[in-house]
Amino acid sequence: MTDDVNSPSKWDENYKQGTDGWDLGGPTPIFKRFILSRQLIPGRMIVLGAGRGHDAREFARHGFQVTAVDFASQAVQEMRRLATPDAPTEILQHDIFTLPESFNDSFDYVLEYTCFCAIDPKRRAEYADLVTRLLKPNGIYIDLAFPLDGRKGGPPFAVSATEILNLDSVRRGGSQDQLNVFAQIWEKVKRQFDRIECRFSTNLVNGNVI
Ligand SMILES: C[S@@+](CC[C@H](N)C(=O)[O-])C[C@H]1O[C@@H](n2cnc3c(N)ncnc32)[C@H](O)[C@@H]1O
Repeated sequence: MTDDVNSPSKWDENYKQGTDGWDLGGPTPIFKRFILSRQLIPGRMIVLGAGRGHDAREFARHGFQVTAVDFASQAVQEMRRLATPDAPTEILQHDIFTLPESFNDSFDYVLEYTCFCAIDPKRRAEYADLVTRLLKPNGIYIDLAFPLDGRKGGPPFAVSATEILNLDSVRRGGSQDQLNVFAQIWEKVKRQFDRIECRFSTNLVNGNVI
């Protein structure tokens, strides 16, 4: 077994051994609420590090045209097993960092939950480049940030909301006004988040939507 987070076999082992505590067994509650709030117009979405695909299927079920990407074969097998006709999802076994250039400027939404904290922190600038190239010019990056507790080591590696806000807005040249809007949305989601229950309830205290 390898501990190298850049290797799919590390994640395959987690799935095989059941050390996959991030998996809530269904869609992430905040995303369900977000969909039902109708703040997002259905469009083309890519889910990075989609795992078993619970979130990908939930968006697909609500009219989003979803591509779910994961490089772990165990995760992809599970995504295929759990696929249902009412949630049509394109499932790709691929390293997110080498997604084809044909995907550039293709997505209205890039969504992630516990993928950003799973990658090697040294690759975060590369990740920002990836999100930027995948999004259409006015596309939206949706990031449920976890964990925000400043822990040492990982995975999951600590993330900070400010870091994420800056990453994407800087890359996309977002104005201060846009940044304020994003921050307001983030505050709203954070308030909702305080009310939900999930397995990570002690640490998963903030969500942000960029
Ligand atoms: C902590 S899990 C989260 C899975 C899923 N988002 C969920 O909430 O159930 C991180 C996932 O990211 C995937 N992953 C990590 N690095 C990746 C990469 N470079 N390319 C594709 N998938 C990656 C792993 O295989 C794993 O399934």
